Amino acid sequence: MSVTVRVPAKVNVQLSVGAARPDGFHDLANVFLAVGLHDEVTVTPADSLRVTCEGPDAAEVPLDRTNLAARAALALAARDGRSPDVHIHIAKDIPVAGGMAGGSADGAGALLACDTLWQTGTPHDELLEICAELGSDVPFSLTGGAALGTGRGERLTRLDVGGVFHWVFAQAEGGLSTPAVYREFDRLHEGHRIPEPLVSPLLLDALASGDPAALAATIGNDLQPAALSLFPALADTLEAGTKAGALAALVSGSGPTTAFLTEDEPSAVAVAEALTASGSCRAVRTATSPAAGATVI
Ligand code: C5P
Repeated sequence: MSVTVRVPAKVNVQLSVGAARPDGFHDLANVFLAVGLHDEVTVTPADSLRVTCEGPDAAEVPLDRTNLAARAALALAARDGRSPDVHIHIAKDIPVAGGMAGGSADGAGALLACDTLWQTGTPHDELLEICAELGSDVPFSLTGGAALGTGRGERLTRLDVGGVFHWVFAQAEGGLSTPAVYREFDRLHEGHRIPEPLVSPLLLDALASGDPAALAATIGNDLQPAALSLFPALADTLEAGTKAGALAALVSGSGPTTAFLTEDEPSAVAVAEALTASGSCRAVRTATSPAAGATVI
């Protein structure tokens, strides 16, 4: 018997970053929006815990116990006092190390898949706690939709979304390490007072209205200067998408994937074509939001 879970990528429509905390993490006001690019995580009983992966970027995915999917199985098995002996197979479609929570998606997906396979009956809020231990973005991968993440991003409040948003995502050549981007953020802000991260009420209104122009006017990512400092070529991709008519162009999370919010589907197709023609990125995808969280299929 196997269980398969489908789990979405995310984009941050607001990523407001505070000063580094004593534990090294940064307090955030992080508005997550799940987008319709998915990984599928399948768990099957096996002799021992192992992870396999398929997909265009599969070679870049670690298959050892650093993989968040393996860590999720280990965490749930430990909590339930059982052995973690499952084969976890990841059909990967979310960009790897791209700032779209692909690793977090696999963690949340494996957790829900193992919970279902083992019938542990773990309450949803305990699953969310395990997710938070696995990583700051993992709880959102479980819940999907749209949410405000505070603390290091793991404390979620659900948000209303009043319509469908059309996105284009451009994958860069290579990845960026999230800790390196946060370290660069710290370096760029050395000697400056960093304000407390606060969610923008205008952005919440824009999300609730479903109006892409209103969302574009308030969208923002405090990690973008740090990501551009480490990966200056992203500026060319952002410019190409803006010239092609995107309402907003920004780095997704810690990057290096760039995200383009568009007026409607035809506009998304036009921006995607222009980005491909620009030669400034490795691959281009369109997707809509919001998307459901981790779901057994
Ligand atoms: O929580 P997660 O393991 O995904 O975080 C990866 C790294 O990103 C952390 O080790 C830290 O360097 C950085 N981070 C941060 N502040 C956050 C979230 C992540 O500094 N709120």
